Amino acid sequence: MNQTTYPSIKSYFDPDVSKREIDQAFSNGLSYAGHSLMVPEKYSYQVLPNFNDRFALFNQGDSYELISNVCLHRQAKLLEGQGRARSIVCKLHCWGYDNSGLLKGTPHFKEAVNGQLKKETLSSWNGLLFRGRTPQMDLAALGLTGYLDFTNYFYAGSETAEYQFNWKTFIEIYLENYHVYSMHPGLRQFVKPDDLEWSFGEDFSVQKVGLGEQLTKRTTDRYREFQDALLARYGQSLPRYGAIWCFLYPNIMIEWYPDIIVVSTIYPKGAGACVNHVEFYYPTALYQEIPDYFVLEKKAYMETALEDEDACLLLEKGRRALFLQGEEEHGPIEPFLEAGVAHFYNWLSDKKSNV
Ligand code: FES
Ligand SMILES: [Fe+2]
Repeated sequence: MNQTTYPSIKSYFDPDVSKREIDQAFSNGLSYAGHSLMVPEKYSYQVLPNFNDRFALFNQGDSYELISNVCLHRQAKLLEGQGRARSIVCKLHCWGYDNSGLLKGTPHFKEAVNGQLKKETLSSWNGLLFRGRTPQMDLAALGLTGYLDFTNYFYAGSETAEYQFNWKTFIEIYLENYHVYSMHPGLRQFVKPDDLEWSFGEDFSVQKVGLGEQLTKRTTDRYREFQDALLARYGQSLPRYGAIWCFLYPNIMIEWYPDIIVVSTIYPKGAGACVNHVEFYYPTALYQEIPDYFVLEKKAYMETALEDEDACLLLEKGRRALFLQGEEEHGPIEPFLEAGVAHFYNWLSDKKSNV
């Protein structure tokens, strides 16, 4: 086993140590902004909660842009939610901007005022939009082409979860299948946790997890309902995998489950808290045909997410006890089921030593 460099217990609780670590991890990492399906038509916009509504994503026809969502006059918030607009008018004193953020009107000002809302052109990769560089992930080579394909999908909305633990804790739980047996009574039947294929790149990992073999066996109520719907949809020709989890450092998850794609981003809020924005993408035609199937799948997903929160809180509590005593402790990493954890730790420590 390669030597693993563990993050210190301090890095989970000490505000200064944590801030340094976050700056290092996020300054050169990938930066996901949103998905082109959030703004399907020219002039569609979506205010982005992942940036605290600081920016709106705009479809400009030939490009996707982030446009500042803060008025140049007295700094009021400009847009809410999503919609379609060729111009932006501030509600407060009616300053007007065109769709590119150029200031066009400043009522009652005798002298002309020039202005341009901050804006940034985004880079597109497989429908996902990034600030700066895009992932170096060869979907074909990774066997993901048929899975992470957004063709004829639509953006079905988001969920936001706020957590009271360090951001790394969420990632650690995401990157190991060891806890699935004990913490996920539903998911552990739906997938086969040790039927697991790992792939690694410099700043990402992929877990493909086989579909469970006994989907009619007893499980939780939510997974029962979802699995019945899945069996009704597929009959005997079930999908090979139950889940595919891609993690792109520092904070982006792209997940495939039968017929849905989920894109989530986790953002630190200081050392002891983080927030997860979870976006759901569904195939349009199938959703129109069997909408209940998607409702049931999402309920099962949310059940698992709550259990993951419990897992994270257990880690947080144990480590907090160590931190309060000024102690450092780390245990061994199971090389197969927890392989992603070691990869993440090493990526993180590499970012630290590069500054
Ligand atoms: S704050 Fe927007 S017009 Fe005054
Ligand atoms: Fe989990």
